[in-house]
Amino acid sequence: KKIVILISGRGSNMEAILRACAADRWPARIVAVISNRPDAAGLPVARQHGVATEVVDHRAYDGRAAFDAALADAIDAHAPDLVVLAGFMRVLTDGFVTRYSGRLINIHPSLLPSFAGLDTHRRALEAGVRWHGATVHFVSPTVDGGRIIAQCAVPVHPDDSPATLGERVLAAEHALYPRVVRGYVDDQIKLVDDDLLLAPQLW
Ligand code: GRF
Repeated sequence: KKIVILISGRGSNMEAILRACAADRWPARIVAVISNRPDAAGLPVARQHGVATEVVDHRAYDGRAAFDAALADAIDAHAPDLVVLAGFMRVLTDGFVTRYSGRLINIHPSLLPSFAGLDTHRRALEAGVRWHGATVHFVSPTVDGGRIIAQCAVPVHPDDSPATLGERVLAAEHALYPRVVRGYVDDQIKLVDDDLLLAPQLW
């Protein structure tokens, strides 16, 4: 299977996936890492892992539709089976999301449907929740609203700051996301008519 990963920044989830793919010899290949930001710290990391990188700079395009069309061209050149959003910080148009329906997944740093959107760790602390976490989901036109594939939870500590809580969530993401991508590679995860089909061992 061929996988394209989209990033905007640090790329630590991307790196967790690259490491797992190599270490566990997945029957899959990360064919490209594409960033919308030329200065994304994850780009050199991807190259260190021997993965080709590309930049589709959103500032070079007039509007979301034009950017998404260029991004889709860059992706389709690789004919991937799966497109993985890993800290990709642009909202995608409905047209883009529909084009990749069932083969576009994202990780969000909260237990959805709680805390969709930005600044999740601060908002979780303000809400006083005792558990927080991350969610991997299929991407649908509703932002952070697609079918939930998998979640991981971490406890909130009384002395947490958004930063300490965020670190705990991120460490859990690095275990969760590779597991889900592997499940997709192994055909254990499918979206059929907006219904999630999950192999029993992934429940
Ligand atoms: C992660 O917290 C992810 O859940 C969110 O953005 C962050 C990306 O971090 N979507 P990284 O770029 O993978 O290090």
